[in-house]
Amino acid sequence: MPGVELIDVAKSFGSTEVIPKLNLSIDEGEFAVIVGPSGCGKSTTLRMICGLEPVTSGSIFIKDRNVTKAAPKARDIAMVFQSYALYPHMDVAGNMSFALRLAGRPKEEIKRRVDHAAQLLELTDYLHRKPRDLSGGQRQRVAMGRSIVRDAYCFLFDEPLSNLDAKLRSSMRTELALLHKQLERTMVYVTHDQIEAMTMADRIVIMDQGEIQQVGTPREVYTSPRNRFVAGFIGSPSMNFLDAQLQDERGELVVRGDGFRLPIPDRLQQQVQNTTVTECTVGLRPEHFFARNDGSGNLAALKLNVDVAEYIGSSQFLAAHLGEQAVTATVDVGPDAEPMQSGEYYFDTNRLYLFDRRTGMAL
Ligand SMILES: Nc1ncnc2c1ncn2[C@@H]1O[C@H](COP(=O)(O)OP(=O)(O)OP(=O)(O)O)[C@@H](O)[C@H]1O
Ligand SMILES: [Mg+2]
Repeated sequence: MPGVELIDVAKSFGSTEVIPKLNLSIDEGEFAVIVGPSGCGKSTTLRMICGLEPVTSGSIFIKDRNVTKAAPKARDIAMVFQSYALYPHMDVAGNMSFALRLAGRPKEEIKRRVDHAAQLLELTDYLHRKPRDLSGGQRQRVAMGRSIVRDAYCFLFDEPLSNLDAKLRSSMRTELALLHKQLERTMVYVTHDQIEAMTMADRIVIMDQGEIQQVGTPREVYTSPRNRFVAGFIGSPSMNFLDAQLQDERGELVVRGDGFRLPIPDRLQQQVQNTTVTECTVGLRPEHFFARNDGSGNLAALKLNVDVAEYIGSSQFLAAHLGEQAVTATVDVGPDAEPMQSGEYYFDTNRLYLFDRRTGMAL
């Protein structure tokens, strides 16, 4: 059953159309992450779901109920923003219980809910501290606690971790995923950080310029990107894109470009045989380059001119050239290896991607 559903939702600010037409169905209990570059319409979409922003046209359903015209209060949702704006004069318990007290809930119920949320968020020892005496991560947890105590049907998060440092962000990611497991609520989480999306989401919704580019599990969007935008957005470092031509060399299908000739993998044979496209873009993920041919996979040799080799502990990060085109490669050569030099490298051709150069769609 859909927990949150957007049907033909469009949004304009004055004469500026920000979201042309959006259709999205998020399952009940699902953790959906909306990801995309700055300005693509993520926050606007979230604000329309919670009712802070009216839709220009289309409808929004939450748990089978048409809430398109309903006030935020009447939608049974809780929202956590990037700026957590806690009340400085209230302690943690006071901040967390504020909405419940305002709603006139009985004292025992308030205490029970606050204690439960504090336990989930490991804030029990801090209930009587003021926000100024908490770390950034603890304050962020209080902001989440404030929404958890309300026990809403659906939780919406707009970049709640972007104020935190890298280490805290990664531990909060784990805590949020855990929280989702424990609460079993529908959650919609917005971020521009693809790592956050990949690590937390049941399903990722990738947006660009107000339009959904692809919806899928982290594995689906990584292994089968629908188009060049998704391929370049998901994965770190980003996929390399190289201009190339599809050719039939006496019955063998190959893709050729400046400094490389790669066989078409079995996975793409059918598509390449059926297409009329010849001008294409080849997509090579940095992590599918190898320094040695160990005989596994379908490795093809490529000559890389290495400009810089960066040591990152587990592997080396190469900024290189393939012919005239710049590429990056991450090769695992063990912690003690010397910086890698220009020369022969290998690419697992099972993992290569092809895109129509004109439309950007995957073949
Ligand atoms: N009140 C407004 N009036 C006019 N334009 C707006 C308004 N709010 C947002 N926009 C525009 O709508 C577009 C989408 O904005 P939105 O805030 O949804 O982007 P976003 O994906 O959340 O970006 P970010 O990652 O930077 O937060 C932007 O081009 C923005 O300038
Ligand atoms: Mg935003």
